[in-house]
Amino acid sequence: MPTPSVTIRSLGYSDLPQVIAIERRAFPTPWSLAMFVLELSKPSGVCLAAIEERRIVGYLICSRYADVWHLMNIAVDPPARRQGIATALLERMIDRAGEDASYTLEVRPSNTQAISLYERFGFRSAGTRRRYYQDTGEDALIMWRTADTASTPSASG
Ligand SMILES: CC(C)(COP(=O)(O)OP(=O)(O)OC[C@H]1O[C@@H](n2cnc3c(N)ncnc32)[C@H](O)[C@@H]1OP(=O)(O)O)[C@@H](O)C(=O)NCCC(=O)NCCS
Repeated sequence: MPTPSVTIRSLGYSDLPQVIAIERRAFPTPWSLAMFVLELSKPSGVCLAAIEERRIVGYLICSRYADVWHLMNIAVDPPARRQGIATALLERMIDRAGEDASYTLEVRPSNTQAISLYERFGFRSAGTRRRYYQDTGEDALIMWRTADTASTPSASG
């Protein structure tokens, strides 16, 4: 469970310097500032920040394309991991976008910690995108969460 001091709120443009710093610690090929600005400018997206002691410790970016929500980015600052912060971000995303909505994402097959996080929410693998990651040439695993597969960690125990 997240520490009681963590709160989840909407992500804003003024949060981006802190987000970029975490992004660089979290990913070998981090998003640019322009990519975050583009996502925040989309009125239908769900963009969230996890705050602890007035500092950002995690964030989530989810975009809507027609009837499908695409989880574009989620990261937690390394010292704050394994405290339920990503779980709290995903729960809020589902609260906002809808329990019965369809969600998809791409993840590196080597990212087993993220895959097990997603599986706890009812995401299931549905094929691969060949050579999706340009830095390593790795395929992406495509995952979907639909009303049929939906679960949350608290619901599934
Ligand atoms: C993946 C990530 C967002 C998880 O954040 P987190 O706040 O540590 O996740 P939570 O504490 O909510 O973990 C929930 C569950 O996910 C799984 N999980 C998370 N980190 C894990 C790890 N290092 N090893 C194994 N399982 C892990 C576990 O099932 C965990 O539940 P448990 O702690 O009760 O065992 C974080 O590790 C991260 O920022 N990684 C780098 C960025 C990244 O890969 N993002 C995903 C891109 S697709």
